[in-house]
Amino acid sequence: MERKMVAGLLLSLLLAILVLAYLLLEPGRIQAAAEQIRERAVTHGRDLFRANCTACHGPEGEGTPGLAPPLNAQGFLEVAGDRVIHDLIANGKAGTAMPAWAEDNGGPLREVDIAALVAFIRSWQPTAPEIPSQTTGGSPARGSRLYAATCVVCHGPNGEGNIGPALNSPQFLESRNDQYIRSVITEGVLSKGMPTWGVVLTADQITDLVAFIRGWQAAATPALPAKPLIDVAAVFAANCQVCHGANGQGGFGPALARPELLDTLTDAAITATITDGRPGTPMRSWQDALSAEEIAALVELLRGWQRAAAARTDTAAALSSAAAIFAARCAACHGPGGSGGFATDLRRPEYLAATTAEELAAVIATGRPGTAMPAWQGRLSPEEIAALVAYLRGGE
Ligand code: HEC
Ligand code: HEC
Ligand code: HEC
Ligand code: HEC
Repeated sequence: MERKMVAGLLLSLLLAILVLAYLLLEPGRIQAAAEQIRERAVTHGRDLFRANCTACHGPEGEGTPGLAPPLNAQGFLEVAGDRVIHDLIANGKAGTAMPAWAEDNGGPLREVDIAALVAFIRSWQPTAPEIPSQTTGGSPARGSRLYAATCVVCHGPNGEGNIGPALNSPQFLESRNDQYIRSVITEGVLSKGMPTWGVVLTADQITDLVAFIRGWQAAATPALPAKPLIDVAAVFAANCQVCHGANGQGGFGPALARPELLDTLTDAAITATITDGRPGTPMRSWQDALSAEEIAALVELLRGWQRAAAARTDTAAALSSAAAIFAARCAACHGPGGSGGFATDLRRPEYLAATTAEELAAVIATGRPGTAMPAWQGRLSPEEIAALVAYLRGGE
């Protein structure tokens, strides 16, 4: 009897030790497997990089002056999240030498290849050097044209804010460094409606915008913008709107705010059409009516529409990928689209109204300990969590 009890006790003890050992080793095993998958992606990415990218970006991603920027630079890797790097590779940058690589865009690379390149580029980060930006300073004048065409609708003509927050306030400008401003413009804040400009604007253009925004800080001293900003929206309204519609959507004249059209027109071609008109059509020559600066500002306005459309497509793509993530990771518990199932209805209007985007992101990242709600940090990237938040909030 006594011996049986001791044997039973020993057996339970052994079992307990086995379970404990399993619990201790299992996360390590999963982690090791994840690490192995990541290493395989990095190796594949390295091969692809050698074959496709070194000609312009250099063997170590150090860049080629005058041809392509460094990718192996702390400044770039800190500012650009995985999604931005992915989209830059997949879509390229219109108007620069950077080609589009995704099969969907007529390029040679599959989705797994692009993910592998992102993993490879990311693997530089721990040892990446601080490479000073090749674009020193930036041009506030170019930045002002770009701003007037691309940012005014949301941030106001003088940065006083509108849908987006004020950018000209001393509190903002004094508390944020250039790196922060660059980073917000590059990444955007998808869940709040700030588009991801890093995938449509070039690095130089973002530098120009930062220089222009910084100009407001010194605005008290009259040194900065020598010329007042051309109110290009007013120029368009006064001269072009009757035929081309208030937002270039067309009317009597053709629609101008069409990416299919603008993608095919060079700046020179648009300038020529406005300057010389189209003889034999109602599109007259504007040479005598408008200054060269005003015509340049109009070209930039059209480019702004083109970029806004590209940024909207990018936002839509991020949201549709959020829908896919939700279906794969969350719908099992929260029901299709988050309408409720085993777990909470996430679409309750009163819940969404009472919960900020930050709170939503925090719940998703850290989970609800003690409930079935897992922590997704580490399994989903910050970009993916931000996209899920935007998706739950209806993509506003
Ligand atoms: C469709 C509207 C929209 C457009 C267009 C837009 N923004 Fe924004 N922007 C926002 C919103 C909304 C926020 C606030 C995000 C948040 O609350 O975190 C924001 C935030 C910012 C911030 C950070 C402000 C802060 O207080 O941290 C900067 C800088 C900025 N935008 C610059 C730009 C620039 C430069 C452009 C043009 C290339 C631009 N934005 C175009 C909506 C927009
Ligand atoms: C023909 C030359 C060329 C090739 C080949 C090329 N790139 Fe680029 N790439 C550029 C240029 C030029 C830019 C800068 C675009 C701009 O002005 O913003 C760029 C920008 C980038 C950026 C954004 C960098 C930044 O600072 O914004 C990434 C990421 C990138 N390239 C990745 C790649 C990858 C990965 C490959 C290979 C699959 C590749 N590139 C092949 C020319 C090239
Ligand atoms: C009286 C009407 C009218 C006004 C005003 C007008 N346009 Fe046009 N515009 C047209 C018509 C019609 C066409 C198409 C011409 C053709 O068939 O080639 C056109 C063509 C264009 C095109 C070329 C589009 C393409 O398909 O290549 C551009 C760019 C353009 N206009 C810009 C402007 C700008 C900028 C202004 C203001 C400064 C302006 N237009 C004012 C009627 C007008
Ligand atoms: C294994 C089931 C399960 C999965 C998978 C799951 N959740 Fe949850 N989630 C829950 C449960 C249960 C709760 C309620 C926890 C509580 O009682 O506070 C919850 C709560 C939440 C909340 C807070 C809701 C509220 O009313 O406070 C959010 C937001 C949320 N989940 C988002 C997500 C997202 C996004 C995903 C996918 C990335 C996800 N969940 C995946 C089970 C799950």
